[in-house]
Amino acid sequence: MLKYQFDLMCHLIRPEQVISITIVDNDDTPDQSKLFFSKFDIRQFINLRSYAIISSDQSIFLQLDLLCQFNHFQALTLPNISQTYWCLFGSHVETIIPRLRKLITNQHPITKPLNNLRYLTITHCYCHNLEYLFRQMMMLRSLNITVSLDMFTDWSKKIPVMNHLRRLTLGIQYGRLTMSRMNQFLSKMPRLLHFELRIDDPMDVIGDEQWTRWSQHSNADIEDANDIISGHQWKYLVPHLQTFDFRFCLLNRSDEKILDSFRSTFWLEQKQWFVAYDDYQSPPCLFTVPRFAPKNIIYSSDYNTPWCTSSNLGLDQFVDVLTLPKFRPTEQSAAMQSIHEETEKNEKKPPRLLLNVEDYHQRAKEKLNKMFYDFYSTGSDDQLTLIDNQIAFRRIKLRPKVLIDVSSHSTVDSISCKTQLFNSTTISFPCIIAPTSVHRLANSEHGELATVRAAVACSTNTGASISMESIANEHRRYIKEKYPQSYSQLWFQIYVTKNRNFSKKLIERAERCGYKALVLTVDTCEIGNRECDIRNNFSFPDGIRAENVINENNILAKTYRQLQIDPSLSWKDLDWIRSITSLPLILKGIMHPDDARKAVRYGVQGIIVSNHGGRQLDTCQSTIEALPDIMAVIRECNYQMDIYIDGGIRRGTDILKALALGARAVLIGRPILWGLTVDGEQGVTNVLAILKNEFRVAMMLCGCQNVEDIRKNNLLVMNDNIRSKL
Ligand SMILES: Cc1cc2nc3c(=O)[nH]c(=O)nc-3n(C[C@H](O)[C@H](O)[C@H](O)COP(=O)(O)O)c2cc1C
Repeated sequence: MLKYQFDLMCHLIRPEQVISITIVDNDDTPDQSKLFFSKFDIRQFINLRSYAIISSDQSIFLQLDLLCQFNHFQALTLPNISQTYWCLFGSHVETIIPRLRKLITNQHPITKPLNNLRYLTITHCYCHNLEYLFRQMMMLRSLNITVSLDMFTDWSKKIPVMNHLRRLTLGIQYGRLTMSRMNQFLSKMPRLLHFELRIDDPMDVIGDEQWTRWSQHSNADIEDANDIISGHQWKYLVPHLQTFDFRFCLLNRSDEKILDSFRSTFWLEQKQWFVAYDDYQSPPCLFTVPRFAPKNIIYSSDYNTPWCTSSNLGLDQFVDVLTLPKFRPTEQSAAMQSIHEETEKNEKKPPRLLLNVEDYHQRAKEKLNKMFYDFYSTGSDDQLTLIDNQIAFRRIKLRPKVLIDVSSHSTVDSISCKTQLFNSTTISFPCIIAPTSVHRLANSEHGELATVRAAVACSTNTGASISMESIANEHRRYIKEKYPQSYSQLWFQIYVTKNRNFSKKLIERAERCGYKALVLTVDTCEIGNRECDIRNNFSFPDGIRAENVINENNILAKTYRQLQIDPSLSWKDLDWIRSITSLPLILKGIMHPDDARKAVRYGVQGIIVSNHGGRQLDTCQSTIEALPDIMAVIRECNYQMDIYIDGGIRRGTDILKALALGARAVLIGRPILWGLTVDGEQGVTNVLAILKNEFRVAMMLCGCQNVEDIRKNNLLVMNDNIRSKL
């Protein structure tokens, strides 16, 4: 999981809704538990029922004593806890362990009877502890235990009858198991239905000296050793079981005859339990199929498929991973290899179809140098707002209206989604290109010129890598030559710099060039903490500059961090801006309803609900969730102003949802940069066309004949964050 996905996951978690936590710190996810608990306190998970810590970092176990606060707590998994921490935890045995229904641990846990315990896994135990363990938990239904045996303890005799046990998984890690002990052991579990036995300590089935000595000493029958691998013997022990699986490791190789005792009617027909013998494995083993069929085979020339009691049961069907040997390239195989490579080249997968914005994003990511990709794609701090902008749209569900004639929308060109802006301009699609800086990082040849050619409406920004005059000229030329009917218009986005005179000149230049509105960005009194750019030591490559500010001491020459934005900018400065220009004023970066109210008081023509695409204040609310409060204020003031929104818009349905909540149009930032990177002007055109088509389909499926219907049709089913504000 990537860090940002992890952060997102944490962001979405509502602790009081969580009933089960599994913390895994392995090589792929080191320190994830620490990271997780830097964001949460375990006490927040008040409804926790089950907690698993699979971590070798012991300090995390310290919080176990807090579990006693949870009323519903009942399952604990601690496979790696050290004895020290187990003892520390042991002081809470009184309160926690007796409540448990399920426990998985590597420690011997028991000091008191655990009458609630139903499921127990103990990763290791000595046979002389078994009696005590069983007596402490007579109500067990399921036991999974790995045991070391010795010849001198009569362990099987002493254990109590376990009347409730239905499932037993027994691993013998060390020591010899005899059939008489097994018989005794199983007779203590009269209602057992499922039994799995693993003998990992290789058995010498022919008989070895040490075993002879041991068995004489303990008066056990020497034949027991061989009986364990005899189907004839097992037949008498397990007839009442529903499932019986085993895997026995053997010391010596044997031949196929070893399977004969498992070929009786009892095994093959009555139970349909099949057994195989694999002498290729080390150590060789006898096992039931499919439970223990090999999943992973490393093939070599002496490899034999395991023998099985039923030839109908092809064991290869259970193999997941087959590793073939590497051959030395002889001349022939070298030739084969080159043919193979050639074929592979020819058969290379066709490039992924670019069907949506995310496809463009992925293709752009492949194309862009990492430093530039990070500059475009990332946000500030933990990037939570960046992520939430997109996710918040998905939290809103649509409730379509049907049986409405929407035949006029059957093609992209016929779709009726014309939108009138504050300055009486009508744009053909309510989607405007947001101001994003330095387009020549995406397309070094044309940069913003390519973008502007594709634009329905476009904001050029202070940090553009082409001068505002060139952009405006290109826009004019292009419209005149190619789209004389187009109403496409340009806005100029400005950051007010400490040198106010310089800002004044920029505004005057914009007005002279024919820009139709001034977008004043108000969320950037300081540049957000964009850690990726800091790590990458982001700077513009040679030959690319922020052309609009180049006259002013080269301030944007190498990085936007040198932009001298004036942090003293305040509401009263709007009067100063008004004194410079008659252009309509749009405030970009309004998130608070109080600020929307002030914007009304200052008589601005529009606001853009924006958090700068998650590049400024992290953990800032998502824009679509901020929109309803702002709309409420504007309605309340009964003031004519255009409300726009940007941030996280990636689908036509996102546009529809923004409009349904009252936005006049949306602005999109990164999708345009992805289109530009992938295919210049054509890429931007395609991205806009994709969004327009998605918007068309969404309108039709929601039964909207025009943009007004989107607002009127009561289409949204809101999540709690938004519903409360409607
Ligand atoms: C690479 C990049 C540069 C940006 N530069 C500016 C800028 O110079 N001025 C500004 O007001 N907003 C800037 N923004 C913010 C966008 O105008 C817009 O608010 C944001 O990208 C919208 O979110 P989206 O990318 O999820 O669509 C920039 C965004 C990006 C991604």
